[in-house]
Amino acid sequence: DNAHRIAVIAGDGIGKEVVPEGLRVLEAVASRCGCSFRFDHFDFASCDYYLQHGAMMPADWKAQIGGHDAIFFGAVGWPATVPDHVSLWGSLIQFRREFDQYVNLRPVKLMPGVPSPLANRKPGDIDFYVVRENTEGEYSSIGGRIFPDTDREVVVQETVMTRIGVDRILKYAFDLAQRRDRKHVTSATKSNGISITMPYWDERVEAMAALYPEIRCDKYHIDILAAHFVQHPDWFDVVVASNLFGDILSDLGPACTGTIGIAPAGNINPERRFPSLFEPVHGSAPDIAGQGIANPIGQIWSAALMLDHLGEPRAAALVLDAIEAVLARPEYRTRDLGGTASTEDCGKAVVDALMAG
Ligand code: NAD
Ligand code: IPM
Ligand code: MN
Repeated sequence: DNAHRIAVIAGDGIGKEVVPEGLRVLEAVASRCGCSFRFDHFDFASCDYYLQHGAMMPADWKAQIGGHDAIFFGAVGWPATVPDHVSLWGSLIQFRREFDQYVNLRPVKLMPGVPSPLANRKPGDIDFYVVRENTEGEYSSIGGRIFPDTDREVVVQETVMTRIGVDRILKYAFDLAQRRDRKHVTSATKSNGISITMPYWDERVEAMAALYPEIRCDKYHIDILAAHFVQHPDWFDVVVASNLFGDILSDLGPACTGTIGIAPAGNINPERRFPSLFEPVHGSAPDIAGQGIANPIGQIWSAALMLDHLGEPRAAALVLDAIEAVLARPEYRTRDLGGTASTEDCGKAVVDALMAG
């Protein structure tokens, strides 16, 4: 049978509320497009699992999900019971590293009808990708603490940039820009203050740019780039950044489009040696969890990214059109967008738009 085999991990908090809406939309699009899915649900990579088992995941987690075509993921983290670095390093960060998902692809788009907090911005003004390095950089396990709990305590965590690691994320960004109209890459850096790794990143950008003469390439320090995101979001097409800078820019970008609740992410292994993982950019939102008011669009849009990756571009386009149709209707907006719709109202509206479209 040619069903796409999907490992589903809802995780914690609103992950458990938005993942079902993503699945609802996937079921609907399958019935429209003649594709099919087999969903296998896993309860690990959640803080509930940790409290029961003393670890975020079973020892054989790689074998359990490594053979799937993709992983559809919600959010993990419940800092009231498990420290964030324990829950995240024990789950999501392991997926990214062990499955070599070195691209974190995060579209940022102002949707028709959705108010931007930036004055006078309309759809088309904000439409870019953040391409975030996802396996090394500032998120390294090299470091430690010496003389703990003394007044001589020293704590170090190294930034690691490898030639292979930097070059492959830059190549992905330039290839993506090559397929787009504006053919423009912006690199985020901080080579004035961080004097070893960041100038190295800049050097590799220059070397890559030389291979793509038709692409315009800009470099900005991350501080002023953050300011330009707010004042000139129309300048950007493909923004490529290290792990930490990409993390920050991919909350800032979606905030400029109205809410982080709609932002999707693909954690991609482009060589397809391992499954890629699709999840919203946001976290488990403990402050609103359990109320049925989370915006499910980030999860649903992540499903569209997953469909593209699975070779179902028609299905992906149908889901995106349905998202746009629903976001344009104030009555289906959740509270983060100023509406009163529930998570389920919004998810069902996407299904209705999909079946009508
Ligand atoms: P968060 O993204 O969970 O929440 C930030 C704010 O945005 C909150 O006010 C929340 O209510 C709101 N928000 C987020 N998603 C929303 C949605 N879909 N609809 C409406 N409002 C939404 O970030 P945080 O508060 O820094 O982190 C909470 C927990 O999630 C922590 O444990 C953190 O480590 C974890 N986290 C996990 C991921 C992930 O799994 N990929 C990502 C970010 C944070
Ligand atoms: C994200 C999150 C994670 C990250 C955290 C939860 C470790 O913020 O996916 O953007 O920093 O990568
Ligand atoms: Mn983040």
